[in-house]
Amino acid sequence: MRAVLFLDLCHEGIIGMFFRKNKAITSGIDMDNLPRHIGIIMDGNGRWAKKRGLPRSAGHKAGAESLKKIVTEANNLGIEYITVYAFSTENWKRPQAEVDYLMNLLMDYLINAEKTLAGENVRIRAIGSRKELSEEMQEQIIKTEKLTRDRTGIVMNIALNYGGREELVNAAKTLCRKAAAGELNPEDVTEKDMDDGLYTAGQPDVDLLIRTSGEQRLSNFMLWQVSYAEMIFVDKAWPDFKPKDLHECIKIFQGRGRRFGGI
Ligand code: IPE
Ligand code: IPE
Ligand code: MG
Repeated sequence: MRAVLFLDLCHEGIIGMFFRKNKAITSGIDMDNLPRHIGIIMDGNGRWAKKRGLPRSAGHKAGAESLKKIVTEANNLGIEYITVYAFSTENWKRPQAEVDYLMNLLMDYLINAEKTLAGENVRIRAIGSRKELSEEMQEQIIKTEKLTRDRTGIVMNIALNYGGREELVNAAKTLCRKAAAGELNPEDVTEKDMDDGLYTAGQPDVDLLIRTSGEQRLSNFMLWQVSYAEMIFVDKAWPDFKPKDLHECIKIFQGRGRRFGGI
């Protein structure tokens, strides 16, 4: 017990620890039963803007602000992994001007995240297919990942040109290549082998999946990793989703009985 406490103090600092415990008490979150990995389908930016008579781009801008606050809060709470759906493999179907706006916004987010999330100790990774992204974006992803690699806080996966099916096809290709090279017997393929071929290799499955804006579908998000995730669909649009809403979702998660097929 003493050793654990000592390690805690070294890791977080006395002030940080006091702050966290206090905050947890006020919000009613059980700090011993936190989801390790939260996935968020950040939806409803366009409708949020439309309701206010603004262009869709204004919704995306407000959504990026929301994202900063939520990641910061998740990190403060001690969540280990957060994956946010920023751009799907299907989102290229949108008007070119909107695609361009989203790409610029994501680029800015990556550049600024180095600074704004530095104090938060957030490790940033991009998941998804990179080859379709601009060279500039690909370079920035490598840069941001490298600069934040040694941080010790939450791991933030930004799903960017991400599709769950593309990810699974990609994992299957890796296994096929190994089999063709004689390094792997197809009969011996395990779930772990599939897992190792995903963008999230080595990370725990998603425990809690949140989708905003009232839609109740996965839209090709983390098909493998959400197998046993608790899903929460929130009516609010993403720009209206506040840290207190994240607290509410975690409390709902903690009230659910997860059985994983058992009794
Ligand atoms: C989510 O908001 C952001 C992205 C998909 C990039 P939307 O742009 O999908 O907003 P709605 O669903 O049209 O309101
Ligand atoms: C899912 O939202 C993708 C992201 C949040 C990035 P969409 O708005 O693209 O999903 P659909 O089209 O409503 O299923
Ligand atoms: Mg949408």
